[in-house]
Amino acid sequence: MNSEDFRTYAHEVVDWMADYLDSIESYPVKARTNPGRILEQLPIHPPKNGESFQTIFKDFQNVILPGITHWQHPKFFGYFPANSSRVSVLAEMLTATLGAQCMSWLTSPAATELEDRVMGWLREMIDLPEHFTGVIQDTASTATICALLTAREKKSDFQVNKTGLQRPHKYMVYCSSEGHSSIEKAVKVIGLGSDNLRKIPVDDTYAILTGRLHNQIEDDKEKGFIPLAVVAALGTTGSTAIDSLKKIGEITSKHDIWLHVDAAYAGTALVLPEYRWMIDGIKYVDSFVFNPHKWMFTNFDCSAYFVKDPEALVRTFEILPEYLKTNEGIPVKNYRDWGLQLGRRFRALKLWFVIRNYGVAGLQDKIRKHISMAQDFARTIDNTSDFELMAPVPLNTICFRYHPHRIDEPEKLNEVNEALLGHLNASGNLFVTHTRLNGAYVIRMVIGQTEVEPRHIDETWELICETVELIEVE
Ligand SMILES: Cc1ncc(COP(=O)(O)O)c(C=O)c1O
Repeated sequence: MNSEDFRTYAHEVVDWMADYLDSIESYPVKARTNPGRILEQLPIHPPKNGESFQTIFKDFQNVILPGITHWQHPKFFGYFPANSSRVSVLAEMLTATLGAQCMSWLTSPAATELEDRVMGWLREMIDLPEHFTGVIQDTASTATICALLTAREKKSDFQVNKTGLQRPHKYMVYCSSEGHSSIEKAVKVIGLGSDNLRKIPVDDTYAILTGRLHNQIEDDKEKGFIPLAVVAALGTTGSTAIDSLKKIGEITSKHDIWLHVDAAYAGTALVLPEYRWMIDGIKYVDSFVFNPHKWMFTNFDCSAYFVKDPEALVRTFEILPEYLKTNEGIPVKNYRDWGLQLGRRFRALKLWFVIRNYGVAGLQDKIRKHISMAQDFARTIDNTSDFELMAPVPLNTICFRYHPHRIDEPEKLNEVNEALLGHLNASGNLFVTHTRLNGAYVIRMVIGQTEVEPRHIDETWELICETVELIEVE
């Protein structure tokens, strides 16, 4: 493709992007396709000769787009959002154009120094103490792996990195029974084994029972195990339950255990001073992760990882072959040593664009509106006799179910709510997902999409009420 064609097609693509975002509400939120349907439209073999951009772009629209679930649709209420914004998309285009690989200061000084600055801004925005230093990771899953690896290295005086885990090792990791699956994945991949992850029961708000955590740790120590790390949740995936960092921290500091905080989704709420209660006890925390790619209008992927002791992090990951040696004359940050990957994308750019374009006040305004819409919706559920809230709503995730008086058996209720969710999603009008809380099938609705407005919630409630009538008839 020559420069002239690039310019023409780039304009065409940007026009398409702007139209797509303007008309996104006309698409069914959840892709209407069946497994294999897209695959069968794609040639088995790659083309021998190059194809025109127009042909490829047409196929994008005709073959790929129908198989897309529209995560940026304002009525995407499933999982947690991966919300984006127009300004973030523009920055991503620039990132792709520069195509910089930002593993070292030398390989793109501006990328390193911008990351340094932007992570400082983020730290200040969510009111983490100054002793935290930030680095951008691809995902919270990776950040949690980094945290547990650093904990392992610190506890072993950096010996496991050298000699490997000696079997049988004695390390134990703790989280609540509502802890995210990425914690279990992390203990598996770093060689600790999922048998050595203790899932501590939760209270009726779905937060970890700290008394049980304490007893389990003491018990494990008596049996000769070495408690390595506790992963606390600020915002569990099921219901955004908030573990008490203060109570957990008192335990971890007493027993010299690493405290990692998984605030993947809810961490964004810390931009609001009225939510800083969530980090009461932050002084005990060793590492903290939250995802601007979930609820801070920064397109996937961008995960903010903060550590108290960057030297321990770097010592865990640093390897310096000859071909990576550089000489700047003064110490510089080489982010390749701050995580798993060598090659790194220039993720700081989109974060910089987003923070500057919204401003802190603009971000606060949006987050507050999301929470306020969710609180209103939760009140509607609570005030409607055939529905019930299934968990507290500290932020903007509402866990609810339909519970008409005539149905009492738990299994029947589960079936009815599964059917309700199926009907809602099949309508194409919205997308919600589910979880189980205490065995009950629960519909989760997360109100965190960039462009979501009260009218979207009103329409959704109307649809839920209509759909329930439909299920009654069946
Ligand atoms: C609480 C929590 N932690 C961790 C993750 C994993 O996030 P990521 O996809 O960035 O690895 C999620 C994903 O939804 C989550 O909800």
